[in-house]
Amino acid sequence: MHHSFVYVLLLSLSVFFNIVLVRKLILLGFEKKRLASILLRFKDLSSRFRDVVIQREEVFLKTVLSLSKNFIDDVKNAYLVYFQGEKGKVISLEEHSTGEEVFVRKEEFSYIPERVHVISGQDSIKVLSKLQPNVVHQLGSIETSDGWSKYLAVSDIQVGGELKAKLFLARERSFDQEEIELLKSLSSLITSFVATHNYVSAQGRFQKDMILTMIRILEYHDKYTKGHSKNVATIASLLAERLGLSDEMIKKAYWASLLHDIGKIVIPSQILNKEGKLTIEEFEVIKKHPAYGHDFLTTSEDLKELAKYVLHHHERWDGKGYPMGLSGEDIPLISRIIAVADAYDAMRSDRPYRKGLPIDVIRNEIDEHSGMQFDPEIAKLFVKMIDSGEIRN
Ligand SMILES: [Fe+2]
Repeated sequence: MHHSFVYVLLLSLSVFFNIVLVRKLILLGFEKKRLASILLRFKDLSSRFRDVVIQREEVFLKTVLSLSKNFIDDVKNAYLVYFQGEKGKVISLEEHSTGEEVFVRKEEFSYIPERVHVISGQDSIKVLSKLQPNVVHQLGSIETSDGWSKYLAVSDIQVGGELKAKLFLARERSFDQEEIELLKSLSSLITSFVATHNYVSAQGRFQKDMILTMIRILEYHDKYTKGHSKNVATIASLLAERLGLSDEMIKKAYWASLLHDIGKIVIPSQILNKEGKLTIEEFEVIKKHPAYGHDFLTTSEDLKELAKYVLHHHERWDGKGYPMGLSGEDIPLISRIIAVADAYDAMRSDRPYRKGLPIDVIRNEIDEHSGMQFDPEIAKLFVKMIDSGEIRN
């Protein structure tokens, strides 16, 4: 999905931070070559943040953490505490942890006015045992061993005056002034990306609520679609997953399926809810729903791509579908997936003139129309999923 203005915002943020950084480094008397290499690191970092800022929270925070860990040399462990109100979730890159989630409270950490500071010795062990209680038995040996993670650089990420996250980098040796300066810039960069991520996910929530409201209105208007959109979405995203599509595409398959019949909102309900056979004229009216749906969705920049999938959900592999008569791979993949899921759910649900069909009948219908109505690869996968019992009525 496009968040063009967010990208512009991020681009200007990273330009701004690069300028701030250059001035800071010049003041520190860095030589040119070294300056160039540090700038390059920041440029790389900000473009990688840009890529993950629209990802879901967990992926975003883990990426921030791992990029931060690699930003300073020889860092052994890195932790990010992400606060929601007074409670903070500890995010760690450790693989050997038990997988149990660790939570801390804001008040457990003493307030220090500097944005980045270093703690060492007993104090660092105290903090580490809060962040990773399940390996606390190992921490006992830290005191005696010579210096494992004795130094912790702590950086506060504040958004709008509120402490949003704390970044901890653990290392055997201390951090020098130059590294602290670098960490301050890193912390500013993370701050702006955390703020942007919060904003983007709030937008996402709003959009999701809007879509669900639209679906509810449709179901009110067309009683046959009750639950249909959701069933199609579940099956379509399952198919997308089994086809090996990316998380992003699976998500799109889900949302496009939820919306696939949204254009029916403007089809008269006497036609939609008619119990007898439709006349040719009435059917011509119903056939307009993919184009109407497409029209509604293209008003939003973010939903444009979904609009395309909605437009083509009644195309057929052999080119005999509507509205454009596209065939084969000219039909977008997600539309081909929706076509199979849609047919399945239509056959399995009750209609006034017939009961829902049993699963083996549906299986044979999909199989028979493979290569004609349906993409043969998707139809084959679908039949396989029925045969294995993964899809059942
Ligand atoms: Fe439809």
